Amino acid sequence: MKYFSARLGSDTAALAAGYDAVCAFVNDVLDRPTIEMLSAGGIRLAALRCAGYNNVDLQAAWGRLHVVRVPAYSPHAVAEHAIALLLSLNRKTHKAYNRTRDGNFSLSGLVGFDLHGKTAGIVGTGQIGRITAGILNGFGMNVLVSDPFPNAEWAASIRARYVEPEELFRSSDVVSLHCPLTPENRHLVNAAVLSTMRPDSIIINTGRGALIDTKALIDALKDERIGGAGLDVYEEEDEYFFEDHSAAIIRDDVLARLLTLPNVLVTGHQAFLTKEALEAIAETTIENIGAFFLRGELPNETCYRCGKDCERKKTGRCF
Ligand code: NAI
Repeated sequence: MKYFSARLGSDTAALAAGYDAVCAFVNDVLDRPTIEMLSAGGIRLAALRCAGYNNVDLQAAWGRLHVVRVPAYSPHAVAEHAIALLLSLNRKTHKAYNRTRDGNFSLSGLVGFDLHGKTAGIVGTGQIGRITAGILNGFGMNVLVSDPFPNAEWAASIRARYVEPEELFRSSDVVSLHCPLTPENRHLVNAAVLSTMRPDSIIINTGRGALIDTKALIDALKDERIGGAGLDVYEEEDEYFFEDHSAAIIRDDVLARLLTLPNVLVTGHQAFLTKEALEAIAETTIENIGAFFLRGELPNETCYRCGKDCERKKTGRCF
């Protein structure tokens, strides 16, 4: 194994020439030029250390190299971080921490609201969305959910109600995004949607940054048309996240503006970051690589057509 500090993209793909596999994370870019270079250099497998694959051109990969991922490492890690963002933002513990360390015990500006009895809207009821919904149900919230593939039995178990996205955004005090980013749902939360949300509502995004039109979000926050935003992901995060820029000037004016708002809490794509999740990511990635090179198997392959782990390798066809 050889570790490179450079991010994978068309500028750096040449570094992988002569190897059999590349191992990539969320902000590496596996677009068509990168995939063509990797394939020309002999790479046969791209092993993603993450669940999302929006950064991979799966169509370009088809017939050139296989793409495997870690479909589930710890959905609890991500769901619990979404809740951490919500609780901090609502009860302003991050502000209180800074104040009390400075000997300032004033309560001014620290008013939150009870979650109990309020309505939570969960967009995407896959593994993470279902756990988040369960936690919020435990707080005594009414839970609205939306997903193109509803799971009625699960919803009944926590008395969640599937509704159209319009109703979810209009009726929720807290909205949390847990769907994958696809070309169809880019800027799912845009100016039109934000204009329907409750003025005190809090939006949490641990999904992918581009699910939200950030400029429209900033406008809504500036005009006090929504109450706050807890963001673990940002649509242009690959320029900044995972690196220390504290001594540099942030040239992304949208990110810089976002960071100035008192009712915004940004974390740098750390929702997955628990001991359990890291162990599971490492284990599954090694298994994925071993399965392919030792046994010719692709247990966690992602197919460009169905966008899911499929039986393509085993059956020779998934469609
Ligand atoms: P999953 O595949 O179990 O569930 C995703 C659900 O979203 C599915 O039920 C799907 O039908 C639904 N969906 C798709 N498009 C939708 C739409 N437009 N509206 C509503 N629902 C829609 O995925 P999982 O494990 O729950 O992860 C969700 C997302 O969370 C991942 O795709 C990834 O982008 C993000 N994630 C973020 C992490 C972080 O550290 N911030 C870590 C892991 C995942």
